[in-house]
Amino acid sequence: MNAQIVLLPGDGIGPEVVAAATRVLTRVGDAFGHRWTFTSRLIGGAALHAGHPPLPPDTLEACKNAQAVLLGAVGDRAFDGRLPSERPEAALLSLRSHLGVYANLRPARAWPGLLDSGPLKAHVLAGTDLIVVRELTGGLYYGQPRGLEADGTSAVNTLRYSQMEIERVSRVAFKLAASRRKRLVSVDKANVLEVSQLWRRVVTAVAADYPDVVLTHEFVDAAAMKLTLAPASFDVMLMENMFGDILSDEAGAVCGSLGLLPSASLGDGPGLFEPVHGSAPDLAGKDVANPIGAIASVSMLLSDGLGLKTEGAAVIAAIERTLEAGHRTPDIAPAGTSPIGTTAFTDAVVAELSK
Ligand code: NAD
Ligand code: IPM
Ligand code: MN
Repeated sequence: MNAQIVLLPGDGIGPEVVAAATRVLTRVGDAFGHRWTFTSRLIGGAALHAGHPPLPPDTLEACKNAQAVLLGAVGDRAFDGRLPSERPEAALLSLRSHLGVYANLRPARAWPGLLDSGPLKAHVLAGTDLIVVRELTGGLYYGQPRGLEADGTSAVNTLRYSQMEIERVSRVAFKLAASRRKRLVSVDKANVLEVSQLWRRVVTAVAADYPDVVLTHEFVDAAAMKLTLAPASFDVMLMENMFGDILSDEAGAVCGSLGLLPSASLGDGPGLFEPVHGSAPDLAGKDVANPIGAIASVSMLLSDGLGLKTEGAAVIAAIERTLEAGHRTPDIAPAGTSPIGTTAFTDAVVAELSK
């Protein structure tokens, strides 16, 4: 296959993890006979520092014309004082909206050898293999009206969902559940919010088309608790944008590190693939960031973006063998052991892919 892939390294540890992920993609291309054409573009703080808007027009154009987009992270403390629309993060929201990637898949699992890396007892984490399906282009992040009111003493954001928006992301979650362990938990706050009542009604109606999938509903507060008490009890979790942002970071911590989580954002055009973590300014430039989230995002780019399932599975298998061989970045290394850096960990994954 020939594919155009746009790389958006972004800010903080973004460039380091995108470099790692690109090395893995290149190795997969060589091993399986695919040709990737990489185009790197500015986004976020990196674009702002160069005198551009957070999402420069040529970046957006390149993404729209690509087969897939691989992003590192956006976010730079230099722009912390700005309005949301002028911050690096605005670029990501705008890109997601322009690409129409309404379904964000965030798998979280117990990786081999990492049962003791997180805050949970190993027997609680064992067997965890869940996917958060996060609605990505609606809800509070995009609802109008929004803004600080004129006197500066009140502000408003709007939580709005249409039936169509709920239905299309629900179908993604049901299809996914049907291909897995056939259990779907829809997360909402239907005891308080009208939007959640609509959410629950629409998801329940869609369930009629997927009789093999067992649908249950959970309030978001209880779901957050259950994610720590019994993470292995979940298969697919479906939720609106903001709830998905929050619960997916929790799922990362539960599994051992936020640095482990990949994501795929899918719509009708090119997919956007990015680790769930942010720019982690505390780690940037030190070669210590965990590249697994970014490398596993390459697996999703291959499987979900380009339809190359065998290649995607090979990347996951290479990460597993790297962990089984005992390699650890600092965030997942047990106390008293010697961790390795981003580059050395990536070397090991690339070497595994070559075996
Ligand atoms: P963060 O995800 O950058 O970091 C949270 C914690 O996780 C930190 O302790 C960090 O050291 C750790 N961490 C993150 N990635 C890691 C990795 N690969 N390996 C090891 N440890 C890792 O979140 P934050 O600190 O709240 O935000 C920093 C900036 O990133 C902000 O500007 C925020 O808006 C932005 N952000 C961007 C994205 C994105 O681009 N998708 C996601 C989240 C946050
Ligand atoms: C994420 C991030 C983004 C979000 C920010 C950076 C806009 O936290 O991808 O989880 O809230 O969606
Ligand atoms: Mn987030």
